[in-house]
Amino acid sequence: MSGASVHSIGQRRFKVVTYGCQMNVHDTEKLSNLLFHAGLGEAEGLDDADLLVINTCSIRDKAENQLYSDLGKLRSWKDARAGRVLGVGGCVAQQVGDALLTRFAWLDFVFGTHNLRWVPTMAEAALAGERSARTEESRSPDRFDLPERHAAWRSQTPGRAFVTVMEGCDMFCSFCIVPSTRGREISRPAAAIVDEVRALADRGVCEVTLLGQTVNAYGRHDLRRGRAEESGTVAFAELLARLDAIPGIERIRYTSPHPLFFDEALIAAHASLESLCPHVHLPMQSGSSAILERMRRRYDRETFLEIPRALRAARADVAITTDLIVGFPGETRADFEDTLSAVREAAFVDSYSFKYSPRPGTTALELDGSVDPEEAQDRLARLQQLQRELTLAHHRSRVGSRTEILVEGPSRKSSRGGAGSETLPQQVRGRDPWHRLINVDTDAPAGELLAVEVVEATPHSLIGKSVKRGAWAAEETGRSAVTAASEDPLRVL
Ligand code: SAH
Ligand code: SF4
Ligand code: F3S
Repeated sequence: MSGASVHSIGQRRFKVVTYGCQMNVHDTEKLSNLLFHAGLGEAEGLDDADLLVINTCSIRDKAENQLYSDLGKLRSWKDARAGRVLGVGGCVAQQVGDALLTRFAWLDFVFGTHNLRWVPTMAEAALAGERSARTEESRSPDRFDLPERHAAWRSQTPGRAFVTVMEGCDMFCSFCIVPSTRGREISRPAAAIVDEVRALADRGVCEVTLLGQTVNAYGRHDLRRGRAEESGTVAFAELLARLDAIPGIERIRYTSPHPLFFDEALIAAHASLESLCPHVHLPMQSGSSAILERMRRRYDRETFLEIPRALRAARADVAITTDLIVGFPGETRADFEDTLSAVREAAFVDSYSFKYSPRPGTTALELDGSVDPEEAQDRLARLQQLQRELTLAHHRSRVGSRTEILVEGPSRKSSRGGAGSETLPQQVRGRDPWHRLINVDTDAPAGELLAVEVVEATPHSLIGKSVKRGAWAAEETGRSAVTAASEDPLRVL
C-alpha cells in the first residue's frame, strides 16, 4: 500500500469486543495474534484503542440486535479522535455483509468468518479513507494456516487453549443460522492439529479444548469419500488418541459434539483415554421426537437417550450438559413435558436453555404452530427450575470428594474489590475435570493445577479447600477418579 508509511496501522493499539460461542472467542484470539504480528499492541480499554473490532454472534435475534445497539453508541467513540478505525466481523458480518457499511456511515470495514487474515490490510486501508467488506467463503483448508502464536499472545487462562479441528456446518437444523454464517464443513489435517497441540504443550499449556460446530463430525466427509489420506484427516476418536499421547497435555475437552456422530469409538475413548475429561456437552434441543423431527435434528428421543446410557456404562462418573430450545413452532404442552422428562432421564448436570428465536434464511420460518411468547417464557422458567434442582443435587453429591482444578484467576468474590474487599481472603476459581466451577480460598496463580476437596455445594458452583496431593494420586486428576459421592450420577434422581 503506497500510503503505508504515512498511514500505518502498526504501533497503534487495538481492542476486540467478542460475543457468541467459544469459536468466536477463539477467532478473537486468532485475530489478536494477526494484529500482534502486524505490529499493533493491545489497548487497555476503549479509550486508548485506535482500532476497535466487534466480533459478532447471530444465533438469536437478541445477539444480532446487540451489534446494532453497540454501533449506534460507537459513533461518538469514532468521532472523538481522528485516525480511529472501527471494524465488524463474525457471524452477523457474514450474514449481513456490506449492507452494514451502508447503514452505519462511521463503520470502516466488515469481514466475514473466513476472512480474519484480511483485517490488518483492511484496517490499514481504512486509515487512508477506504471502506471495505470481505465476506467470501473459503473452502480450502489453507484458511487454517495462520501465523504461529506471537510472543505477545496470551491465552485468556494460562495453561489452557482452544484448538480448531473443524469449522462450518452441513447439518442445516431448521432453526439454526450457523450453516449460513460459518459455511460448509471443513476439517484440518490431523498432523497440523497434533503439531499445534505439541507447540502449546511446549508453552506450558496442559488443557486443550477442541473446537468445531459439530466437532465429532471431524473428518467425516473425507472418510466417506475415501479422501482421508489425501486430506490428512482421521476419525475423531483417533484424533483424540493422538492428542492424548502428547506429553504435558493433561486434559482434553471438545465442543460441541452432535448426537448423530456420537459413535462407539468416541464412547470407548471416554473409557480408555487418560486425559479425555469426563464431561460431555451434548446438545439435545428437545425431548420430543416430533419436535426433533421438525427441528431436522436427525435423531429421536430414544436414540439420543441411548448416548448418556452408553457413556455412563463406559465411564460411570461422566458429567453431561446440554442445550435446549423451548417454544419451537408446533411444540405442544405434551412435547414440552417430554423435554422435562428427558432432562430428568439424561440427568444433565447443567444446561443452557433458550426460547426459540426465528432467524433469517432458516427453514423453521415456514413452520406453523408458533407458540405464544408468554407460554414459551413459562416453559423456559419451568425448565430452568428443574435444571437448578438437578444441578444442586449433583453439586451436593460432590461434597466430600477430591478433585483438581485448573486455576483461572481470582474468583468473582475476591475480584469484586471495593470497601472491605482487602479483608476478604484471597479466593480463586477454576474448573475440575467434570467442568464444574470450584472456588477455593488460596492465592495459587492462574494456570496451576490445584488439588482440592469439595466442602460445600451452591446452585451454580462448588466451594473447595486446597489439600495436599499424595495419598489419593489416582483420584486427583479426575481420570480414574470415581469418588464415592459421584459414583452413581443417577442417585440424586
Ligand atoms: N452446533 C451445536 C449448536 C451450536 S448453537 C449443535 O448442533 O448442537 C448453540 C445453541 O444455540 C444450540 O444448541 C441451540 O440450543 C441454540 N440455538 C441455535 N439457534 C437457535 C434459535 N434460532 N433460537 C433459539 N436457540 C437457538
Ligand atoms: Fe446449528 Fe444444527 Fe449445525 Fe448445530 S448442527 S450448528 S444447531 S445447524
Ligand atoms: Fe454465534 Fe456464530 Fe457462534 S452465530 S454461537 S458466534 S457460530
